[in-house]
Amino acid sequence: MLIAGNWKMFKGSAETRAFAAAFSAPEGVEAVVCPPFVSLAAAVESGLTVFAQNVHWEDEGAYTGEVSAPMLRELGVAGALVGHSERRQYFGESDETVARRAAHALAAGLRVIACVGELEEERELGRTEDVLTRQISVLQPHPALVVAYEPVWAIGTGRTATPEQAQEAHAFVKSLLDVPVLYGGSVKPENAEELLSQPDVDGALVGGASLDPDSFGSICRIAARIRS
Ligand code: PGA
Repeated sequence: MLIAGNWKMFKGSAETRAFAAAFSAPEGVEAVVCPPFVSLAAAVESGLTVFAQNVHWEDEGAYTGEVSAPMLRELGVAGALVGHSERRQYFGESDETVARRAAHALAAGLRVIACVGELEEERELGRTEDVLTRQISVLQPHPALVVAYEPVWAIGTGRTATPEQAQEAHAFVKSLLDVPVLYGGSVKPENAEELLSQPDVDGALVGGASLDPDSFGSICRIAARIRS
């Protein structure tokens, strides 16, 4: 079971060190944090398992504002998110660029969490499976690849998918690509158990609730208990 905390644009180095001092992962679960780029070094030095929030598809070049897989590896970063819905919504990320980022990062020895998920209107129109098929079709199976199913209408809204909706979407993703699938979207200690108990939910990608070491620790302990 993998529990990843996506910190988004929160926590500089000092707050990252304070989090690490207050957090300990239980046995039986892999806890990962995804800090902003500037806090990656502090997170690695604090002994956390660390993923970046994005990674470019070239090793170096004229790509202002981007960071490459070798640069992340040099810091001791273990992996990267790609295709988070906030990157897709606000920064023009496309299925094609997600595919390039994922393929290059995996080839460079990073682990990858590739994020997919439908918008609210897509779900209402019955298009969830079409959207997931399109987003998954650009990814190749790889032992270090994990998918995060994050329905966009559940991210940062306090609205979670029901356990049945999550299970259905996860089983569908796995029918397309045989990789572990994390659930993301308003996961918190109060709803983690029912979501993580679903047979095809292999972990969680946690946003807001990962910023607090106590609530992130609670989610990790729930995950450890379920799979032990
Ligand atoms: P949330 O974010 O848990 O705050 O909804 C999840 C994510 O965006 O990965």
